[in-house]
Amino acid sequence: MSTHTSSVVTILALALLLSLHQCSSLPLSTNGRFIVDAASGQRVKLHCVNWPAHMEAVLPEGLSERPVAEIASNVASLGFNCVRLTYATFTWTEDDKYANLTVEGSLKSLGLMDAVEGVRHNNPSLMGLTVRDAYEKVVDALGDAGVMVVLDNHVSFPMWCCAVNDGNGFFGDKYFDPQVWMNGLHNVAERFKGKSQVVGMSMRNELRGPHQNVTAWYNYVQQGAATIHTTNPNVLVIISGLKFDTDLSFLESKPLPSHFDNKLVHEAHWYSFGKAHQWETQKPGDVCANDTNAFDQKAGFLVRPSVGRESVPLFVSEFGVDQRGVNMADNRYLSCLLAYVAENDLDWALWALQGSYYIRDGKPGNEETYGVLDATWARPRNPPLILDRLRLIKQTLQVPPPSPVALRHRGNHHKNYKKESHIMYHPLSGMCVSADEGRQNVVLSDCSKSSRWYHRRGGHAIMLSGADHLCMRFVGEGKPVTLSTKCDDQLSSWWSVAMFQFGNGSQGKRMCLDGGNSQPGSTGVVVATTECDCLGTETCQENPQTQWFSFVTTNV
Ligand SMILES: *[C@@H]1O[C@H](CO)[C@@H](O)[C@H](O)[C@H]1NC(C)=O
Ligand SMILES: *[C@@H]1O[C@H](CO)[C@@H](O)[C@H](O)[C@H]1NC(C)=O
Ligand SMILES: *[C@@H]1O[C@H](CO)[C@@H](O)[C@H](O)[C@H]1NC(C)=O
Ligand SMILES: *[C@@H]1O[C@H](CO)[C@@H](O)[C@H](O)[C@H]1NC(C)=O
Repeated sequence: MSTHTSSVVTILALALLLSLHQCSSLPLSTNGRFIVDAASGQRVKLHCVNWPAHMEAVLPEGLSERPVAEIASNVASLGFNCVRLTYATFTWTEDDKYANLTVEGSLKSLGLMDAVEGVRHNNPSLMGLTVRDAYEKVVDALGDAGVMVVLDNHVSFPMWCCAVNDGNGFFGDKYFDPQVWMNGLHNVAERFKGKSQVVGMSMRNELRGPHQNVTAWYNYVQQGAATIHTTNPNVLVIISGLKFDTDLSFLESKPLPSHFDNKLVHEAHWYSFGKAHQWETQKPGDVCANDTNAFDQKAGFLVRPSVGRESVPLFVSEFGVDQRGVNMADNRYLSCLLAYVAENDLDWALWALQGSYYIRDGKPGNEETYGVLDATWARPRNPPLILDRLRLIKQTLQVPPPSPVALRHRGNHHKNYKKESHIMYHPLSGMCVSADEGRQNVVLSDCSKSSRWYHRRGGHAIMLSGADHLCMRFVGEGKPVTLSTKCDDQLSSWWSVAMFQFGNGSQGKRMCLDGGNSQPGSTGVVVATTECDCLGTETCQENPQTQWFSFVTTNV
């Protein structure tokens, strides 16, 4: 009896697991600029986190800190639907060195006795496995947690990435033999072929250095893509650009001739590195406009078709900030990036998951301040700073328009497709603007349920979409904005006074919409008007980002 009951329970549990897996039904494919479920055509937006496994120990970091199943389920519960799991080529090509190297052997060879004890305690079943088998167990644990996996070739020689002259930067560099690289891609594609959670392979991280050039790029990335695609035709083939993956601009005039049966995705990285001085000393709106234009010209344009070029998905496969909140440039850049990623509804992967490394810069247990998890790997480092601010970009905001056939049949697939409207996003708090319950004021609220707005540039009203004829109305300095039916006079005219800032009047002292400096994630904060920050002056000490709002297009 009890045996019977428990097997019924097992079968039910299995059925539930299978149905959960079918939610993110795989494999994936592309439709124009969207990554979609190959079978149904429904959009699957990647919102991932990076998990490195390419450093000296050639193991996914953190196995000494928490059980692998717990880390995998944390990834899912933190709201990431996939992991960009890195690896070093040599792990999969140098058999004499790595085929029989165990987890214990690898950590001991680096003198990491604390990590050995940590793995023995947290993941005893991995201790005696080879580093390759342990990596596979991590891929499996992610699959069991319902998390998709992108396998990312980060370096050839296992080490921290990426320096200009580290021998891993470009085809032909000391460690970067193109043939060995392709053997690595083949071996990895072959090894993980049967695993449906492996949805993509990222061909090479951050090409860079003195030898990089466009001619070699076209030559080798097409060979690498063909290697992956012929070995495992199910996975997305993800191709990065030059200059540390910040430059794909050459594709504007010369796109790749093959999309590998709708598997081609491009990836680009966007950090505040090198721009700290600008963010700290110039008007944030100007720096953001400049940074956004640069990213758009170098990579963002790929999601829009042009004459002779089809659109392709763009995966912002690395961005990130010091999550202690101590870096002013990072804090300011993040609002800028979030607005752009939301407006363009890009796929992305945050750098990074890891709270610490087995060893980095010669220091065992070195902490990662860009990590979502703290050094214990058990809890988020700073949830309000990052997780709440990522909420909107985790949402699917745009879906492919239904085909004419589907429209005629009103197919189920496209039941979510709606006419375009706008969400009004406040990236500093990660919240969105809504009419409050009494339809008197406007407040910050959860983006997934927020009001939709309509605003035509150039001093027009900001109208609440849908039902009534209601718009935002200026009442006075420091006062909450009210909702009113009087929408055609000065007090309901909003001008774009600087990037993301909306103010009254066309000149003189101006009052801007302001969402305040509330803790990210808090709802119910009243949107008021305060004097517009940073107009006119060359530098700006205040943070005008309390006044930053972005109109994000959505059709779901
Ligand atoms: C790895 O170990 C297996 C089993 O002991 C052995 O057959 C194989 O030759 C070893 N491979 C290498 C590359 O050392
Ligand atoms: C382009 O890169 C390849 C591979 O590193 C190299 O052999 C070639 O000399 C480079 N060409 C130029 C013009 O720099
Ligand atoms: C951004 O600013 C830099 C330096 O001020 C300038 O060289 C560059 O052209 C600007 N880029 C864009 C896209 O505006
Ligand atoms: C905006 O509103 C403020 C406060 O009422 C007022 O002093 C200012 O003149 C207005 N600015 C313009 C350009 O209308």
